[in-house]
Amino acid sequence: MQLTKYEEDMYNGEYGEGKAESMEILVSLGKIYDAEKMIPITSAQVSGVSYKTIGDAGLDFVVDLGKKADVTLETMLNPAGVDIENWKELGFSEEFTEKQIKIIEGYESIGVMSTCTCTPYLIGNAPMLNEHVAWSESSAVCYVNSVIGARTNREGGPSALLAAIVGRTPYYGNHIPENRTADIIFDVDYDFTTEAEIGALGYHVGQIVNDKKPYFKLNNNPGRNNLKLLGAALASSGAVSLYHVENITPEANFAKSQDSFEELEVVSLEKSDIIDTIEKLSTTDKTPDLVCLGCPHASITEIQKVAQLIKGKKLNKDLWICTSKAIKSISEQCGYLDIIEAAGGKIVSDTCMVVAPVEELNYDVIGVNSAKAANYVPNMGNLDVVYDTVENLIDMIT
Ligand code: F3S
Repeated sequence: MQLTKYEEDMYNGEYGEGKAESMEILVSLGKIYDAEKMIPITSAQVSGVSYKTIGDAGLDFVVDLGKKADVTLETMLNPAGVDIENWKELGFSEEFTEKQIKIIEGYESIGVMSTCTCTPYLIGNAPMLNEHVAWSESSAVCYVNSVIGARTNREGGPSALLAAIVGRTPYYGNHIPENRTADIIFDVDYDFTTEAEIGALGYHVGQIVNDKKPYFKLNNNPGRNNLKLLGAALASSGAVSLYHVENITPEANFAKSQDSFEELEVVSLEKSDIIDTIEKLSTTDKTPDLVCLGCPHASITEIQKVAQLIKGKKLNKDLWICTSKAIKSISEQCGYLDIIEAAGGKIVSDTCMVVAPVEELNYDVIGVNSAKAANYVPNMGNLDVVYDTVENLIDMIT
């Protein structure tokens, strides 16, 4: 692999042990993928934060790394296992929370921003078209590649962190323009009106394509919130890291202009594919005892919608809307937090229904409007899941 003088110096330890180790691992990774060089990046997003998923080994890794090197660029953290301020009120244990806080402090000590969100692009980490970044949370990877048009591979948490330390990532995969074309076309004859429908589309297509790049022809523009849900679903039932939507996403015209585009397989989807998938994503028809929204973490407009739906009502079951601290703070300034809390709901920050140990909280049925969450919740203990629109879920608990 060709390295610049600066990269070689980092590799050889001129800039300290942490950078040398990081370069060594990233160069080895690049060799596996035949990367010819490293490429400078402008931001990183690091997953592998929840104590539930990384355990004591992950905690030791972060604490150990903190002794060796700092990140050198804008680096944000994925959701953790608890809401750091309100863990007790939500029922999380002190023991778990203590370990979780140590992990977060470890990341903070090397300069990582403890934003604890999977939607960093909603709170300022929004790269520009064609910028190279190293992100690791799968839904964020899908969004930043597809909707923003920046370039990242589906990094692991450690490789994103090492890239943040040296400011470089191996140049392969989605970083190379020719690899960003479409692999298969989905012609979808359906007028999407709800987030549950668009999530079901993503879930269905993810199962078909695995890590290929789908190109969608849709009847209508799903909007940014639903594109967030579409990418999350594609990345959870499959391993999609980049998709195109005709006339909507920034590189769709580039994908369409390739000679190979005319040769691609075209799959036609219709109403029954969407409706069947929605039905399959629920594991029960019981009423949820917790409705959990915000997977990926909610935007301010998604929270506004919930506030409008429950204003003046009283919820008879629990409601969590998962988001970042920053979006929660904007919700408070806009008055939505007061409305939601007056109805008995909670805006939960720093965590989500999948990476938190929700299975330990005595719930049986979780209601979600995210196909990604619907995919994961049934694998958490004995939990059942109800997959539906936000309107229907709120109806079920009022
Ligand atoms: Fe984000 Fe948790 Fe969903 S990390 S994408 S809210 S599973």
